[in-house]
Amino acid sequence: MKSVIFTGLFLFITSLTLLQCTDSKADEAPATQPTEADLVKQGKYLVGILGCHDCHSPKRMGAQGPEIIPELHLSGYPADRPVGKIVPEAFENGWMLFGSDGTSCAGPWGVSFAANLTSDESGIGSWSYEQFKIALTQGKYKGLDNGRPLLPPMPWFNYTAMKEEDIRAIFQYLKSTPPVRNLVPAPVQ
Ligand code: HEC
Repeated sequence: MKSVIFTGLFLFITSLTLLQCTDSKADEAPATQPTEADLVKQGKYLVGILGCHDCHSPKRMGAQGPEIIPELHLSGYPADRPVGKIVPEAFENGWMLFGSDGTSCAGPWGVSFAANLTSDESGIGSWSYEQFKIALTQGKYKGLDNGRPLLPPMPWFNYTAMKEEDIRAIFQYLKSTPPVRNLVPAPVQ
């Protein structure tokens, strides 16, 4: 009788262990590849929380402060906007100056203008993923090997450890944005 109980117990425990094994196997199974829609959604989320709009989206002044102009979303410093007069004494007094919507910035390096990140050809429309990755994580202009170093305030050094899947998601999202034609001016040195 005892041995029957023991055998029963043994079989019960073995089947439990087997069940667990099958379960953990299911956990280890390769995750299904994210669809393009998943990547775009994740990329949009990342661009939002990483603050890319602060500098890359033109804004108009609203009652509560600068508000993103929806149709110019992520299109960088508007090329048709005159560059405001810079007061050099500000630098001497330790200031760095931002244009009122954050898309331009003046400091000891000169004046830099936030890039067009939309899917237009004047943005990142014709860029390869590799170019984008190098620009974002190594701070090289257009992600080209011999590209000049990106100027402040582009905080590329914050993104050096960004995971491949996040860079891919951001790139996929930017490629899905409505194209905005805007040839951002070259920096003033
Ligand atoms: C604090 C302002 C600021 C923030 C935040 C910022 N950028 Fe930039 N970014 C710039 C400026 C200014 C430039 C242009 C620098 C130059 O011309 O050297 C730039 C350049 C770039 C470039 C290179 C464009 C080219 O033509 O080479 C890429 C790509 C880019 N930014 C992507 C992003 C992404 C994606 C985010 C968010 C994860 C982001 N930036 C956040 C200011 C910013």
